[in-house]
Amino acid sequence: MKFSQLATPVVLSLLSSLSGTYGIATTRRATVCNGHAELCDRSFGNVTFVGAHDSYAVGTNSVFVNQDYNITQQLNDGVRMLQSQAHNKSGVIELCHTSCTLQDGGSLQDYLAEVKTWMDANPNDVVSLLIVNSDNIVPSEYDTVFKAAGLDTLAYAPTSASLPASGWPTLGSLIDSGKRLVAFLTTEADFNTVPYLIDEFTNIWETAFDVTDTTFDCNVNRTNGDTSTQMYLINHFLDKLVAGFPAPDPEDADTTNGVSGVGSLGQQVQTCASQYSRNPNFMLVDFYEYGNGSVFQVAADANGVTYTPTTPIASPKSSSGSSSSSSGSVTSTPNGGLELRIVPAHIAASLAVAGGMMLGALSLF
Ligand SMILES: *[C@@H]1O[C@H](CO)[C@@H](O)[C@H](O)[C@H]1NC(C)=O
Ligand SMILES: *[C@@H]1O[C@H](CO)[C@@H](O)[C@H](O)[C@H]1NC(C)=O
Ligand SMILES: *[C@@H]1O[C@H](CO)[C@@H](O)[C@H](O)[C@H]1NC(C)=O
Ligand SMILES: *[C@@H]1O[C@H](CO)[C@@H](O)[C@H](O)[C@H]1NC(C)=O
Ligand SMILES: *[C@@H]1O[C@H](CO)[C@@H](O)[C@H](O)[C@H]1NC(C)=O
Repeated sequence: MKFSQLATPVVLSLLSSLSGTYGIATTRRATVCNGHAELCDRSFGNVTFVGAHDSYAVGTNSVFVNQDYNITQQLNDGVRMLQSQAHNKSGVIELCHTSCTLQDGGSLQDYLAEVKTWMDANPNDVVSLLIVNSDNIVPSEYDTVFKAAGLDTLAYAPTSASLPASGWPTLGSLIDSGKRLVAFLTTEADFNTVPYLIDEFTNIWETAFDVTDTTFDCNVNRTNGDTSTQMYLINHFLDKLVAGFPAPDPEDADTTNGVSGVGSLGQQVQTCASQYSRNPNFMLVDFYEYGNGSVFQVAADANGVTYTPTTPIASPKSSSGSSSSSSGSVTSTPNGGLELRIVPAHIAASLAVAGGMMLGALSLF
C-alpha cells in the first residue's frame, strides 16, 4: 500500500520523462531513408550503395576524367558513395589524379562544401565518402577542412575504430541523429584523435581494381581485417590495355554498368552474392550514368526495393563525340597507378597525347 502510493508518482514521473525523450525521437524519426521506407530499419552495413570512382575527376574536355558529371549531379542521380584521391598541394588538401600537376580537381574544402549543400537540401539521405589518402596526410588536417566546410558535425563517429558489417547503426538512426555522413580514409585514420575519419581497410575489404577482364571476380584483393565480417566494396570499372597501360573504357560502359550480361555490374553482384551469401556494400563505377540508371537498378535489386527515379538521370557525355578536343585521359587508380582513358574515335591522337602524358607523369614521381 504504502509502497505503491510512493511508487506511483515515481513511476509516473519516470514514464513522463521517458515519453518526453521518446516524443522527441518519435517526431524526428525518418520514415524514408535514402529514398526508401524499407531502408530505415536496415543497418548501414546491410545496404548496397552505388559509388562514383574518382568522383571529383569530372569533365569532357579533359584527358583526366572518370566521370561526366559533378558530385551534385551524381548525388541527385543516386550515387551515395563519393570516392576521391587527396594530395598535399603546398599544404592544401587538393583532389588530384596522381599528381596535381597532371590533373587538379579542386580543393577538398570546395568539394566538401558541395557535399554539405546537397546534404542540407536532402536531410533524409546517408552519404559516404571514401578518401584515398595518397600523401598520408594526418587526420587533424582533414578535420580542419571538414570543420571549415561544416561537415564535421554531420559525420558519424562509430563506437570503435572498426565495426563488423552487422554492428553499424540503421540508416534511420543515422538520419535521426543527424550523423549521416560516413567518411572513410584509406590510411592514417586514428580513432583516438578524429573518430569520424574511419579506417577503410579494417572496416571494408575490396575486390581487385583496374581489371581488364570482364570476369570481375569477387576475390579479396585488399583488406586489413576479418573479411568474413567486414563490409565489402567491388571495383566495377573496366579498363583496357592501350599501349600497355590500363585505360578506362567508356565505349563499354553501357555493358559494364548493366543489370545483366557478361561483364555487367549485375553479374558481378550475383557472383559475389553467391560466393559470400551477402551482397556488396559499395559498388564503385566510372561514368555512372551510362546504362541510364542501370547501376541504380542493380543497387535497388540488391536492396530488395523498387527503383523509381524521380527525375531522369543525366545523359552520357563521353561517347557523344561532341567534344572533339577530348582525345583521351590519364587517370589514377586508388593506389596511385596510372590509367589511360581513350575515346576510341581518336585513338591515334590519344596514343600520342597519352604517351606524352605518361612520360610527363613518370618524370613527376
Ligand atoms: C553541377 O552540374 C549541374 C549540371 O549537371 C549544374 O547545373 C550545376 O550548376 C553544377 N553544380 C556545381 C556546384 O558546379
Ligand atoms: C604538405 O606540404 C607542405 C609543403 O608544401 C609541407 O610543409 C607539409 O608538411 C605537408 N604536409 C603533410 C601532411 O605532408
Ligand atoms: C590486387 O589488384 C591489383 C590490381 O588489379 C593486382 O595488381 C594485385 O596483384 C592484386 N592483389 C591481390 C593480393 O590479389
Ligand atoms: C542484407 O541482409 C540480407 C538478409 O540477410 C542479405 O540477403 C543481403 O545480401 C544483405 N546485404 C548486404 C549489403 O549486406
Ligand atoms: C531511361 O530510363 C527512364 C526510366 O528510368 C526512361 O523513362 C527513359 O525513357 C530511359 N531513357 C532511355 C534513353 O532509354
